[in-house]
Amino acid sequence: MAYETLIVETHEAVGLIRLNRPQALNALNSTVLAELKQAYGSFHVDETIGAIVLTGSEKAFAAGADIKEMQPLDFADVYKSDFISGWDEIAKARKPVIAAVSGFALGGGCELAMMCDFIIAADTAKFGQPEITLGIIPGMGGSQRLTRAVGKAKAMDLVLTGRMMDAAEAERCGLVSRIVPADKLVEEALAAAAKIASLSRPSVLMAKEAVNRALETTLEEGLRFERRLFHSLFATEDQKEGMAAFIEKRKPVFKNR
Ligand code: HXC
Repeated sequence: MAYETLIVETHEAVGLIRLNRPQALNALNSTVLAELKQAYGSFHVDETIGAIVLTGSEKAFAAGADIKEMQPLDFADVYKSDFISGWDEIAKARKPVIAAVSGFALGGGCELAMMCDFIIAADTAKFGQPEITLGIIPGMGGSQRLTRAVGKAKAMDLVLTGRMMDAAEAERCGLVSRIVPADKLVEEALAAAAKIASLSRPSVLMAKEAVNRALETTLEEGLRFERRLFHSLFATEDQKEGMAAFIEKRKPVFKNR
């Protein structure tokens, strides 16, 4: 399928999606959302794909929601259409998604990166929630996911001042999992995604569910949920294969069942 705002490729078992609106620093408009849903959907139904990498350009992962598209809207418009709720579908992707962030990840761009399972940042990355400087607040999860990721003090600092933080600060406060040189960003993200895609699919999906559950529930319920998923993996052929391969000192051959 031909996309207007994305470049979509497959690299063996990894789906790679590049945001591609260079004239607007990858600002997220309704076409980007519709096309991302399409690209995610096609990777999710494709059994050969085990993980997804979402990236932008060297200059910008995404500089936010498209301000030119939003500027004329009034309260009735955004309320009646439940504006931006469509992004929830992106956040609920079942297969693992890695955000590979170079340059600006601002506003909705930072929020889109946070919808992914983890963020690998180029040393050039800059994160921020500048909505307050436009007379609005984050609307795609910035006040919620950012606070869970970095804690109240840092989230308040970023959301109330609208300032940007660099990759080093983002790594220190736990927003990004690792920093790599900008020219190695996509390569490193693809390698991480290929590793995930090589593992048993049921265990990967359950690991993702279990970690996400930690953000939604009490410790006791979370531990119970984890243990039940853990138990259920003993019903898979891949658990037998993974453990047999370890004992026999060979590489496992997973069947994803
Ligand atoms: C629409 C944008 C844009 C955006 C940049 N552009 N960001 N268009 N929406 N969010 C466009 C510019 O208008 C310009 O187009 C072109 O991209 C290049 O941008 P410049 O500003 O010339 O580049 P530069 O000087 O390098 O500055 C980069 C920047 C700046 C610091 C990232 O562009 C910037 O501050 N952008 C806005 C960041 C922001 O406020 N994001 C939050 C948006 S609100 P022209 O045609 O003029 O050359 C949001 C809410 C999300 O995200 C949740 C609710 C939906």
